[in-house]
Amino acid sequence: MTRIGDAALVTRAGMIEWVGPLAALPRDLASSATHRVDLSGRWVTPGLIDCHTHLIFGGNRSAEFAERLRGTSYADIARRGGGILSTVRATRAASDAQLTAAALRRLDALLAEGVTTVEIKSGYGLTEHDERRMLHIARELGRARPVRVRTTFLGAHALPEEYAGRAGQYVADLAETWLPRLAAEGLVDAVDVFCEHIGFSVDDAQRVFASAQRLGLPVKMHAEQLSNVGGSRLACRYSALSCDHLEFTTPADVAALAAAGTTAVLLPIAFYSLRETRRPPVPALREQRVPMAVATDCNPGSAPTASLLLAMNMAVQLFGLTSDEALAGATRCAARALGLQTQCGELAPGLGADFAVWDVESPDELCYWAGFNPLVAVVRGGGIVRGMSDQDVRVAHD
Ligand code: NIG
Ligand code: FE
Repeated sequence: MTRIGDAALVTRAGMIEWVGPLAALPRDLASSATHRVDLSGRWVTPGLIDCHTHLIFGGNRSAEFAERLRGTSYADIARRGGGILSTVRATRAASDAQLTAAALRRLDALLAEGVTTVEIKSGYGLTEHDERRMLHIARELGRARPVRVRTTFLGAHALPEEYAGRAGQYVADLAETWLPRLAAEGLVDAVDVFCEHIGFSVDDAQRVFASAQRLGLPVKMHAEQLSNVGGSRLACRYSALSCDHLEFTTPADVAALAAAGTTAVLLPIAFYSLRETRRPPVPALREQRVPMAVATDCNPGSAPTASLLLAMNMAVQLFGLTSDEALAGATRCAARALGLQTQCGELAPGLGADFAVWDVESPDELCYWAGFNPLVAVVRGGGIVRGMSDQDVRVAHD
């Protein structure tokens, strides 16, 4: 990432108009400014982007967590109908108001760390009605708070109990019936599949992706988290925006990601929480120039968190990213994982004026702290949404 000391940044109508060294700021831009903010030497980054969350869910799974502490595995809990399915039961039982209130607490924690764009998946409803509720609530969250929300349909997250033994029928229903209707209602920005031995097969994923393709929707995949069933290679055939997790990805998969221009989304908090030992192939991804994003994976099972800064810290500590890679992972590469690279993720003219102001000595500090938040202020779409009072905003030439 380029670092500019003593910089100036000019915004107009919600967009970045100019950024560079203060000494190079064109005179006409400086003199036509209506408001000027002196940030007293603080660092400014693009607004952070959390490109993989399951933010909306009922209840939590602290009881299962306690069980895992005593030695039961995540996959064993899933196989006996716990795991994702226990959150499905809690989500179906919760009212819209309860789901919204719980999600807002987590969203507010993300926003307090400078997040200005968040992806939110469905996938704990698993009926057409409950998936629709989740996607509606996700859209509502974007209206309730100053954040850009991208929704992802994850009907293929787990096989619901009422379809036990009928996976083919479930996939047919969600791909051919629910998804077209939800998409027509404007609720779906992308489509995801949990492709895994405890999730959906490559054939199932192919059927979901074919439907997404017919609807003109981009796809993503939870791939190679616990095993390798060939998920990312299929996703790359559909030019997936991203493949996420990737602990069990092979060199051939990495080559496919590179050829497809697919972003690798690294989720170190899930790796940490599940006490995984196999890491995603970061050196190979780096060598093949696959963009690496970093996200929270906020969910009640494998990543009970609402801290993107912590994910950045774990990405450097556990996966070996550099501090520049971690910051790019939560900004520029995260935007690519959502197909938003022409709208946000960088401080560049023509992109949205979304940025975060930090009280740090250098951007390296953002992934240095493990549980400390040095955020000072946030601008989203050119408006100050956090942290700066009117006194900080002075009219030019006063
Ligand atoms: O990204 N792997 C599937 N989905 C989530 C876990 C969801 C859950 O356990 O509730 C993940 O890790
Ligand atoms: Fe996930």
